Amino acid sequence: MRYRRLGNSDLQVSEISLGSWLTYGVGVEADQARACLDAAFDEGINFIDTANVYGRGAAETFLGEALAGRPRDSYVLATKLYFPMSDTDRGLSRAQVEKQLEASLRRLRTDVIDLYQCHRYDRETPLEETMEALTRTVDSGKVRYLGFSEWPADRIQAALELPNVARFVSSQPQYSLLWREPERDVIPLCAANGIGQIVWSPLGQGVLSGKYHPDRPLPPGTRATSEEMGGFMDRLLQRPVLEAVQRLKPLAAEAGLTLPQLALAWVLREPNVASAIIGASRPSQVVENCGASGVEVDPELFARAEAIIEEALEPA
Ligand SMILES: NC(=O)c1ccc[n+]([C@@H]2O[C@H](COP(=O)([O-])OP(=O)(O)OC[C@H]3O[C@@H](n4cnc5c(N)ncnc54)[C@H](OP(=O)(O)O)[C@@H]3O)[C@@H](O)[C@H]2O)c1
Repeated sequence: MRYRRLGNSDLQVSEISLGSWLTYGVGVEADQARACLDAAFDEGINFIDTANVYGRGAAETFLGEALAGRPRDSYVLATKLYFPMSDTDRGLSRAQVEKQLEASLRRLRTDVIDLYQCHRYDRETPLEETMEALTRTVDSGKVRYLGFSEWPADRIQAALELPNVARFVSSQPQYSLLWREPERDVIPLCAANGIGQIVWSPLGQGVLSGKYHPDRPLPPGTRATSEEMGGFMDRLLQRPVLEAVQRLKPLAAEAGLTLPQLALAWVLREPNVASAIIGASRPSQVVENCGASGVEVDPELFARAEAIIEEALEPA
């Protein structure tokens, strides 16, 4: 496993990290979830991403238990706030930052979050209020670094221009061969300002593994067939996308990689990406995906992969 510095922070994060959306505490059995986490540490993953809203606290509670036996300085722990935790608890107001941080610390059984992220931008709260509240979490020692997820470029810029507040070090956008939106504004802006990307759904929720064949039924035991986990995949399961992904298989073979490894290596070719946050429902996926760290792929092969996907995603 290789490690990269996260933005301007002193955090060294593994190129492949492990997330917990839909999976741990929710759709994946606890024993299996624990086995995934163990496999992650065995493979050199040192970076774990979660959020208060994943399973409305259940993912953090699972991780709090599962990580309890490990030295706290042996991993980098990231969580998030913003999405509703109850009918009245949501957003990035000063009161919510204070309340949600305490709740996350309790569930995660720790006294410090390494990376505290705003899950989305909160248009109901003045940016100054959010940034001042976040700065206090850093000053108090309960948070080491700050990040955001899916903030529009103009809001990132506005936060950068505020005086006397802590600086963001990370951005968490969706990024994969199937979703290249961050390349337009967010990556250039972040790269110029010491902010690194930790990217979500780098495998398109499993679609970029090639296991969803356009002419065959959805394979049982996959996210797409799961009642608890499969609700966000419609865009990804369209026939042109699935056909294009099948056409990537020979390219992966040419590179000497599996298709998930090729898809992850593609994400990691971008120097502003510090880590690709994978999900995993079984340990073998963790092991396979970690094989993408440190591989060299000919840029011309990546260009061919991009062209195949671009053609499929073009509006008809
Ligand atoms: N900031 C945000 O708004 C946001 C949003 C979404 C996610 N995230 C973060 O990003 C993390 C990753 O998101 P994601 O789970 O969508 O990522 P992903 O890595 O694109 O998809 C993960 C899923 O793909 C399947 N898979 C993984 N490796 C595979 C392999 N080698 N072969 C075949 N199938 C494989 C597994 O599902 P099955 O085995 O069940 O098919 C796995 O749960 C989340 O856990 C979360 O921490 C953040």
